[in-house]
Amino acid sequence: MSTITAAITAVGGYVPDFVLSNKVLETMVDTNDEWITTRTGIKERRILKDADKGTSFLAIKAAEDLIAKANIDPLEIDLILMATATADMPVASTGVYVATAIGATNAFAYDLQAACSSFLYGMSTAAAYIQSGRYKKVLLIGADKMSSIVDYKDRATCIIFGDGAGAVLFEPNYEGYGLQDEYLRSDGVGRDFLKIPAGGSLLPTTMETVNDNKHNIIQDGKTVFKYAVTNMADASELILKRNNLTNEDVNWLVPHQANKRIIDATAHRMNLEDAKVLMNIEKYGNTTSATLPLVLYDFEHLFKKGDTIIFAAFGGGFTWGSIYLTWAYDKK
Ligand code: UT7
Repeated sequence: MSTITAAITAVGGYVPDFVLSNKVLETMVDTNDEWITTRTGIKERRILKDADKGTSFLAIKAAEDLIAKANIDPLEIDLILMATATADMPVASTGVYVATAIGATNAFAYDLQAACSSFLYGMSTAAAYIQSGRYKKVLLIGADKMSSIVDYKDRATCIIFGDGAGAVLFEPNYEGYGLQDEYLRSDGVGRDFLKIPAGGSLLPTTMETVNDNKHNIIQDGKTVFKYAVTNMADASELILKRNNLTNEDVNWLVPHQANKRIIDATAHRMNLEDAKVLMNIEKYGNTTSATLPLVLYDFEHLFKKGDTIIFAAFGGGFTWGSIYLTWAYDKK
């Protein structure tokens, strides 16, 4: 019996139309295009303006894009994993709502939250279900409406985040392509440095928490930056070493898009040339759970069957890690 590996077999994506540029941010907070560009690499980000639409709207669009492109029947999907840090509601799974909306009525679904590492962890979860032989089609969606938790008076966060969604389909592969190895870690020391303080069980919503502006994301950027640089680079270097891969063997780095300087540091540690480092941070900013699939969505046309891809992410919690995957198909 041949071994089952879990391969990505299709990619979809969606970003809202509204563009929030650095120039416009200059009119909202004390910042400037030059600072944002040199410190983060971000030029603009997309914002879902409709007040009546949540993360599920973005996720449904990305899933529908994948379903149309891959020409799959939603009834064949076994499981939907919804990676998100901005669920539509604290209770009532967003993934469940998305599954029903796209017609995946034979699937079960649930949400998976690990801040900016949600999608990376979701890849591990999706792959485990496939490798076990239990399920044949697992749809992993990464989506976040970050604008719903950003304070547009806080220049430390509002310049960074954007809204978006991406989706990938995991299926069994019998030629050995797909997820090869993973190194995933977390450390609760991080929770004070990047968080939404209120609205959870520790500090439930009250008039006071609302008045004190405790429902938006806050971060100690400098500290998060230091941990991110070290851990993302360490994880990526470790996954190369442990699989006897050199920089020559790696075709692409798909890194979480939080800050160009963090990505550059990771690529530098891996000794990777710029052309192999995939970035779209300038267009979308940090879309949290959607960064990795949106990179796949934007650069899918470059990938060839057998390509070696290293994924890396770092996020709140702290959460981080790296995944080594081989691409399973030539451009369809
Ligand atoms: O994806 C989840 C994980 N999140 C991250 O990975 C984010 C990690 N952190 C970062 O990307 C960076 O720390 C930031 C982009 C958030 C900030 O960049 P930095 O180089 O760490 O800036 P800083 O916080 O050390 O601030 C440097 C200076 C300060 O001024 P002084 O004290 O040197 O006079 C800040 O007040 O820049 C000032 N500053 C700004 N100036 C213009 C901070 N934010 C801004 C701003 N525009 N938006």
